[in-house]
Amino acid sequence: MGRRQELERRQNLLARFGRLIAAETRLESLLSLISEELKNILSADRCRVFLIDPYKGELWTRVLVNNEDKILRVPIGRGVAGFVAKTGSAVNLHSAYRDARFTEDLDRLTGYQTKTVLAVPLTGHDGIILGVFEVLNKLKGAFTEEDEGLLRILATMAASFVENATLYNDLRRSHVETIYRMALVAEFRDQKDTGRHLRRMSRFSGILARAMGLSDAEAEDIRCAAPLHDIGKVAIPDSILRKPGALTADEYEEMKRHTIYGGRMLANAESRLLRLASRIAMGHHERYDGTGYPQGVKGEEIPMEARIVSVADVFDALISKRVYKGAWDISEVKAYFQEQRGKIFDPQVVDKLFENLDRILAAADEENRRIQEDEAMQKPTPTANAQPEQPEDHHLRR
Ligand code: C2E
Ligand code: SIN
Ligand code: SIN
Ligand code: FE
Repeated sequence: MGRRQELERRQNLLARFGRLIAAETRLESLLSLISEELKNILSADRCRVFLIDPYKGELWTRVLVNNEDKILRVPIGRGVAGFVAKTGSAVNLHSAYRDARFTEDLDRLTGYQTKTVLAVPLTGHDGIILGVFEVLNKLKGAFTEEDEGLLRILATMAASFVENATLYNDLRRSHVETIYRMALVAEFRDQKDTGRHLRRMSRFSGILARAMGLSDAEAEDIRCAAPLHDIGKVAIPDSILRKPGALTADEYEEMKRHTIYGGRMLANAESRLLRLASRIAMGHHERYDGTGYPQGVKGEEIPMEARIVSVADVFDALISKRVYKGAWDISEVKAYFQEQRGKIFDPQVVDKLFENLDRILAAADEENRRIQEDEAMQKPTPTANAQPEQPEDHHLRR
């Protein structure tokens, strides 16, 4: 390719880069988009975008280890990326293994062989270093000074978008965490195993929502809002809520009002997540055939999110012990959903439950394991987290 054409190619790629990153507001998608674009623009074999986690004083990035998505953490100061994050200077290595700043940890973990590396800092509007852009193994030869200039321009272009997406992400996380803690308040009085049911039914809801064909973002919203389904139980007296035996007809009538209370507590919120939670609280005991409560609406009149959460909630209630009942065998639970398919429950959601039963039971095991680990480490309470399937963290030793 001639030099003119090469310049023109790069200009087009820069313009395209600017357009693409401006259109992406979600942090995860923004980072993978940037990664893909940098790789192409710089004719590199790989690209890693590291961000600084200011609370932990570490860099993190997503990498594939044996085809699994992992979050990798690198102490600031360690390795090439760590050096760039610490000093703010760019690094261009023509032979990575011969440079003292390079460490083999990442290659060892990913099974990759780094030959050439170019890394530049990603700097925020106030001069604070946000992260590092790193391209690896230029397809022909080594990275040039011109490449370094180009990567710096790309980093400058991307900085404010990454900064905004990070702020938005933090905001969403704290919003989601507050929502989850609100849900714990209601659950706290209800059952001994505070939070367990919520974590499991929330995971089931997310899996079922995805299986029903909703987008990742919609499924994620449902997963985050689902724990609030029983928030209205805070208004139910202990004598009913914690009664060890069966409820009388009057008590059950009062208990049923938890749907209305919850729906009202969350109604007309400005937050999209809370409005979603309100529909779930109101609709999660409706039945597909119209015999449920509080309104007795049926079929598609019941919001989809409520039909999903209804299956997730009852599935977990049945496989678990309650003050008023023991846990059922999975075969009994399956028979019950088969029997109630199209009566209590949306037949399609029940089909998705059966199709995804292994995943759902695996998610339940995973949550139970995490809860045990949290308890063993005496963490206060499990917090809601903003990532759907949290990849395992890999810590490089310091
Ligand atoms: P929950 O314990 O979270 O149960 C949620 C839903 O799971 C129940 O809604 C029901 O659809 C299903 N479920 C739970 N256990 C069983 C069971 O043993 N058999 C069957 N077929 N379904 C079960 P439901 O029935 O509208 O109850 C709403 C809430 O009312 C329950 O929430 C629980 O807090 C309370 N509740 C219901 N029945 C009793 C009871 O006999 N004694 C006490 N103390 N509370 C009850
Ligand atoms: C990196 O910059 O790729 C991280 C650590 C290393 O130098 O291997
Ligand atoms: C869940 O989504 O599993 C509940 C929130 C959490 O513990 O992550
Ligand atoms: Fe309920």
